[in-house]
Amino acid sequence: MSTKKILLSGIKPTGRPHIGNYFGAMKQFVELQDAHDSFYMIANYHGLNYIQNGPEMADLTLNLAIDYLAVGLDPAKSVIFKQSDIPEHTELAWIFDTITTMPYLMRAHAFKDAEAKNKEISVGAFNYPMLMAADILIYDTDVVPVGQDQKQHVEYARDTAEKFNRIFGETFKLPEPKILEDVAVVPGLDGQKMSKSYNNTIPLFAEDNEIRALCMKIVTDSKSPDEPKDPSTDNIFALHKLFALDNLAEIETRYREGKISYKESKEILADNIIKFVTPLREKRKAIATDPAKVKAILAEGGEKARARAVAKMKDVKEKTGLSF
Ligand code: ADP
Ligand code: TRP
Repeated sequence: MSTKKILLSGIKPTGRPHIGNYFGAMKQFVELQDAHDSFYMIANYHGLNYIQNGPEMADLTLNLAIDYLAVGLDPAKSVIFKQSDIPEHTELAWIFDTITTMPYLMRAHAFKDAEAKNKEISVGAFNYPMLMAADILIYDTDVVPVGQDQKQHVEYARDTAEKFNRIFGETFKLPEPKILEDVAVVPGLDGQKMSKSYNNTIPLFAEDNEIRALCMKIVTDSKSPDEPKDPSTDNIFALHKLFALDNLAEIETRYREGKISYKESKEILADNIIKFVTPLREKRKAIATDPAKVKAILAEGGEKARARAVAKMKDVKEKTGLSF
């Protein structure tokens, strides 16, 4: 058995990944895969709460697998798999449902937000944290690298592990979230959290002209080119921090001294994003030419993950008296 810590994370196949997903989650995935026994999942059962069209779901799932490989996840180091290839996740989520109360799930931020916006909530969306707890706990996960918005979900997984252990005896490890504080929330074009659901993203693998057009849409205040500007409240500058590695200090001085227009700032940002994204995009195009290979990687990852999940469920079923 490896002595490395176990890591698991996932992303829902609900749209093109954006630079918020990259800096909040995917970049860490790649950096952490050497030092951990890593599992990277495509959360398609979670995605079904949002995408209810078969061909579209299949297409988004294959594309997210290509994205994972393009950013540098390596099937020789990490288990890369589809959530739906491991039915034990949903089986364990059911068991967690039976020890969880409605008021507890009603305290989840995601549920409260949906309610505040008067959205109709599916039972799947309501139970979302229990399926996510199952995803994490079934592999005896130690660390879960995610963006800030997922912190509460990892706490739900910890609470659920504790509750199960209290009722049925020591079974699950308590996982820790791993959040990069300096990029905890990447702002979108409108200044809210960048999110596929808010239509305010810069897709990670966008083409040059799309990147330029999107940068021009970033919302700013109305200061004229020669007015001093506050970098700490500007949405363009927040993105410079991720991309302007060699000229950040210079841009900051020009902001404070009123020596840059927002238009020029956006142009510099677009140039830097394009410089950063070009090699990733080239790699993605090469991977996308061989979908059969990508599917084979998912199938192999699914088998490895499943073996672990089945072994854990044997223990769970014995503890709960479902098997005897
Ligand atoms: P979205 O909100 O765009 O649908 P997901 O919920 O699929 O994104 O998130 C996938 C991963 O990316 C999660 O770990 C999440 O915390 C992270 N993430 C998403 N948006 C951001 C953001 N704007 N800043 C930092 N991390 C983010
Ligand atoms: N809820 C996560 C998101 O929206 C996706 C996810 C599902 C996940 N299961 C997980 C993340 C397990 C980490 C661990 O981004």
